[in-house]
Amino acid sequence: MNLTLKVWRQKDVQSQGRLVTYQATNVLSDMSFLEMLDVVNEDLMARGEDPIAFDSDCREGICGTCSMVINGKAHGGQPGTTVCQLHMRHFQDGQTILIEPWRARPFPVLKDLITDRSAFDRIIQAGGFVSVNTGGAPDGNALPIAKTAAEQASTKSLALFYLSAWKNSASAQAFAQLYADELGRKYSGLKLDTAAKSSTPAGVEEEIYSTDEGPVLITTRGKLVFVAESFDLELALKLSALILDAQGTGELRMTGVQPGAPGLNRRDGESREPLTAGLIRFFSDCGVMKAAVNAAVQAAR
Ligand code: FES
Repeated sequence: MNLTLKVWRQKDVQSQGRLVTYQATNVLSDMSFLEMLDVVNEDLMARGEDPIAFDSDCREGICGTCSMVINGKAHGGQPGTTVCQLHMRHFQDGQTILIEPWRARPFPVLKDLITDRSAFDRIIQAGGFVSVNTGGAPDGNALPIAKTAAEQASTKSLALFYLSAWKNSASAQAFAQLYADELGRKYSGLKLDTAAKSSTPAGVEEEIYSTDEGPVLITTRGKLVFVAESFDLELALKLSALILDAQGTGELRMTGVQPGAPGLNRRDGESREPLTAGLIRFFSDCGVMKAAVNAAVQAAR
């Protein structure tokens, strides 16, 4: 929208002020009034002219510093709205807007739309205010959140696994250690679960952690590192053995699965593949919903 602004310009407290007309062009309806003035000021500065002086602080409708009088009304007259929160959608294309400072004898105009508020500060310093207990900011953790929204925001419904191959076994072990060191940043309630550790064949290192989102298994076999997060431990151990066996010691092999492939989206009466074969393909994207895994486990029983 395009607007005509009649703005009070006053060089300083001693000078005589006057209304000056400006054109504000291409104003977006989602701009705040102050953003609209910012754009006008950029144009003025680009032309080498003095920008319109106005006050603002929070620009969040809290402090009230942006007070000015718009079309004869303090803060523009929208209920409960300060100028910094007043949006241009409240104005019409082609409208003329009168912008003046808040005029009162104890608050002389310092420049343009800025007034001297020190009289107000002196009143406050002298104790001339009332305290109103508006309560504390609500504790975010105390706000009730719908179950669905909470579940969607949580990673608790996710289970993931990763297989990586390294240059040599020393590199693989170094990676496994680094990965374990970083788990504390990702999960709360992290603890090394020594009781859950099973006996492993020679050449296989296994670390099991418990977290608030389920177990984390890190298995190192030769140059390979397998990580399962949030799977039930029994399933994680089975996956680790299956996938490391399937990979062996050769080049990393990739698998993919198409929607509707055997073992996925099966309907009653269709022939079913063994759970493990379906899972290995299903997991090949390296990230699945835990709910889907559990559904697959149930379906195979
Ligand atoms: S700048 Fe603080 S309320 Fe407007």
